Amino acid sequence: MSTARLIDGKAASQTLVARVTEAVGRMKAAHDRVPGLAVVIVGEDPASQIYVRSKGERTREAGMRSDTHRLDAATSQADLLALVDQLNNDPGIHGILVQLPLPDQIDANAVLSAIDPDKDVDGFHVVNAGRLAVGLPGLVPCTPLGCIMLLKAELGDLTGLNAVVVGRSNIVGKPMAQLLLAESCTVTIAHSRTRDLPALCRAADIVVAAVGRPEMVRSDWIKPGATVIDVGINRVPSRDPVKAAEGKTRVVGDVAFEEAAAVAGAITPVPGGVGPMTIACLLANTYTACCRSMGIEPDALTL
Ligand code: GUN
Repeated sequence: MSTARLIDGKAASQTLVARVTEAVGRMKAAHDRVPGLAVVIVGEDPASQIYVRSKGERTREAGMRSDTHRLDAATSQADLLALVDQLNNDPGIHGILVQLPLPDQIDANAVLSAIDPDKDVDGFHVVNAGRLAVGLPGLVPCTPLGCIMLLKAELGDLTGLNAVVVGRSNIVGKPMAQLLLAESCTVTIAHSRTRDLPALCRAADIVVAAVGRPEMVRSDWIKPGATVIDVGINRVPSRDPVKAAEGKTRVVGDVAFEEAAAVAGAITPVPGGVGPMTIACLLANTYTACCRSMGIEPDALTL
């Protein structure tokens, strides 16, 4: 039995961050300007706290300005909108990210729609979704952007390949499908209502799993030699029953990794696959947004 090539997202993210850092250094030298990213977090969600701290550290390491706004869990929608407005009008801030989830009293769509689309480094604004759909330059959601970079680095030209995206979320599945289509793949978006999902996936040269169901994609869903991108990050009980009883967990993807790796041509592990690319793409988007605000063409950032 053959074993798939491992797609090393950690190494790829380090390459991308190094390219962003160099581009930021050139911008500073030529224009005396550094990109600025503002991250807004409302409340105390522990996972969000970890993500936000990590985003701030990576941003500064890349030579950029990083501001973190920590708001109380009881913050009103009006106060959050006022902060977004202030950041929209701050010329030193080129990227704005409002960490999700938001508390119940706040309508996330209203907040995301209030962000200036040219500073929307998450790529969640409807204007950026529209730009992606019609092929205009915009800001692309970080996770699918990272996935397409890994796929192009692994496979080169994607023209004519059959791609199945499992999952239809606005932040991963739909933009992922648009990016694959822009690379001239034949794209199918599958979801919980899809009939005979295993057979559909078995016809794919590329499978992108983004459903949030632990180890759902099995080896008999994979065409021998296909490329598998696993976007899932799921916490499940530890393999060891004693540790599981103590509440210990481990992280798995949406793909049953070991069995899928025996069939696939290449596969991303979890952790260490798509995950590390997401923050790297956030830095890339912040640099891109800064260049565009100055009317200059960003240096190409590829793996
Ligand atoms: N929460 C979890 N992932 C993300 C993300 O990529 N962006 C934002 N804004 N919130 C998140």
